[in-house]
Amino acid sequence: EKGGYAHFMLKEIHEQPDSVKRTIMPRIMDDMPDFSAEGFNPDKLKNYKNIYIVACGTAMHAGMVGKYIIEKMARVSVTVDIASEFRYRDPLISEDDLMIVISQSGETADTKAALELAKQAGADTMAIVNVKGSSIAREADMVVYTHAGPEISVASTKAYMVQISIMYLIAFELAYANGKMDEAECSRYTKMLEEIPEVIEEAIALESKCQFAASKLINADSLLYIGRGLDYALSMEGSLKLKEISYIHSESYAAGELKHGTISLITEQMPVIAIATQKNLEEKTISNIKEVKSRGAFVVLIAEPELDIEDGVADIVIKLPQADQLLMPMVAAVPLQLIAYYTAVLKGNDVDKPRNLAKSVTVE
Ligand code: F6R
Repeated sequence: EKGGYAHFMLKEIHEQPDSVKRTIMPRIMDDMPDFSAEGFNPDKLKNYKNIYIVACGTAMHAGMVGKYIIEKMARVSVTVDIASEFRYRDPLISEDDLMIVISQSGETADTKAALELAKQAGADTMAIVNVKGSSIAREADMVVYTHAGPEISVASTKAYMVQISIMYLIAFELAYANGKMDEAECSRYTKMLEEIPEVIEEAIALESKCQFAASKLINADSLLYIGRGLDYALSMEGSLKLKEISYIHSESYAAGELKHGTISLITEQMPVIAIATQKNLEEKTISNIKEVKSRGAFVVLIAEPELDIEDGVADIVIKLPQADQLLMPMVAAVPLQLIAYYTAVLKGNDVDKPRNLAKSVTVE
């Protein structure tokens, strides 16, 4: 059943190109996003005042990527919230807004409660869900099913990837609907998304390099993940994955925040995983890497292929395959998953069933 893989998690990492294909193909028509089967209409979409994206854990991290790209491309304000926080803070959501909840299982109690609250407030609701007929899917006004296939590993990988792929299509659709992107531009981006499964495949080929990086991390008590912009959104997911299965503490930090307190943690005992995929920000991130390196940190850098980095700035450099920088999260997520996976494997942990966790969290 694991198809020759040592764990479901590894199998599911390898399934990502196919999962993405299955998820995006039904929503693309002539190289343009097309959600007509789901019943959402671009004219309505463009009139929302605010978009709220609410979810838990990894699904919330997919929402973080969604926020960056929807705001950047469609110029609409997006708030991302943790479902258990959103539901108890008397949120400002109203009839003018769209609520997007993201859930692999479709059964997460807090996410479901946040959805119900949004409906009571009169907002339109959309659920991005992997499990057919689940509670969240039944309750939302609009449902966009992701087609990751069953995810067995408690640590989510392919579900995150397909959630992000839908975030892109929504960003493209919205940017086109409200005139921030013309048809040619929208179709150019949609085509690039259609090509992403092959790039993910190339990223999976970095497996042995990631395994080597993992072998250098297994004795750490704590790690720091740093990045800026989309790379920061991604670093949150990298950090969660590592904690969840390797049991090594880690934190993700916006690289620019290091100086405001966290850099005091840096010693030779604190490895840093830096992500630099965004050209306009990489120079800044590199200077942050130099700061942690000069304080003794062991640095693993995950970078876009053209990044020019002097020898010795990072201990291990994992160069990603080429993709448009806006789509880089779908590529850079892969080495983060593989590093977490191999760190857990090398520590002898039960990778698919990490201690204290359940696949679906149906109580708050
Ligand atoms: C982490 C993980 C969890 C889930 C979270 C939400 O690897 O899997 O953080 O993402 O419990 O679950 P769903 O998506 O089912 O609502």
